[in-house]
Amino acid sequence: MKRDFLDLGDFDAARIGQLLALARELKAALRAGRAEPLLAGRSLAMIFQKPSLRTRVSFEMGMYQLGGHALYLSPDEIRIGERESVPDVARVLSRYVDAIMARVFAHAHVQQLAEWASVPVINGLSDYSHPCQAMADLLTILEKLGTLRDVRLTYLGDGNNVLHSLLVGGALMGMHVVGATPPDYCPDPDTVTLAEGLAEQAGGSIRLTHDPVAAVREADVLYTDTWTSMGQEEEAQRRNAAFPPFQINEELVAEGPSIAGIMHCLPAHRGQEITDPVADGPLSWLFDQAENRLHAQKAILVHVLEE
Ligand code: CP
Ligand code: NVA
Repeated sequence: MKRDFLDLGDFDAARIGQLLALARELKAALRAGRAEPLLAGRSLAMIFQKPSLRTRVSFEMGMYQLGGHALYLSPDEIRIGERESVPDVARVLSRYVDAIMARVFAHAHVQQLAEWASVPVINGLSDYSHPCQAMADLLTILEKLGTLRDVRLTYLGDGNNVLHSLLVGGALMGMHVVGATPPDYCPDPDTVTLAEGLAEQAGGSIRLTHDPVAAVREADVLYTDTWTSMGQEEEAQRRNAAFPPFQINEELVAEGPSIAGIMHCLPAHRGQEITDPVADGPLSWLFDQAENRLHAQKAILVHVLEE
């Protein structure tokens, strides 16, 4: 059966652990100048309905480093679901390439691609989730703290795609994840229920709150993301009024005696969800996290394309 990579909830902790271990091996091999062309001759089509820096460049360089080839398909090019139906795009691309990575608006579109493609499909962000980002984030926390189990991760801001993947990924790995959001911007309740069940099995926990200061006091790691995700631009004014108490600034960080690192999936809107002194300060893990997109996704590519 083909292997898709759509959501972390499709995997168990053992598989996530294996992927993280492989990512670390691939990272060490690259640094030591002994990277192997594990995907020689293999190809990846990358469909983008939204802009990207990290996802595009890290997938493209990842395929290059693994000896394969990546093909960038811009938002204007395919116009998936408009110029051509999702099932048709899936079936046509399956005749040319060995795997598809897609960044889409509707999560249903990446699911439909996976349903119709005969090659593996990777979710490169949808309105619902961002599992590749969460893999890079878990890798970063593991490298920095030496463990994921019992790490207290507090996410501040919008209950969005990034939070959904962190809730599920953190729960699987036995972390204590707190989502601190304004009341009107909570994460999806079904995803919270899923994460609560997984956390219970793994010895971790999930907690939601609207109190940013209380959430920070208990945290080992703080995380934030944009207040206005791609596609929500028309809501920006209303969002900018609701989110300022959740900004990660020096005053808020000072409330957390155990904070070891600050994370942001990027792009950052400096002066909104995070301030310059924090993003560029001694606790910032922002650029290690961005680098780890490369290593985590190389592991995902090897996993989905393994014979
Ligand atoms: N974090 C992330 O996915 O970045 P891009 O939108 O630049 O790909
Ligand atoms: N939540 C953000 C993540 C960007 C990487 C968005 O969807 O725009």
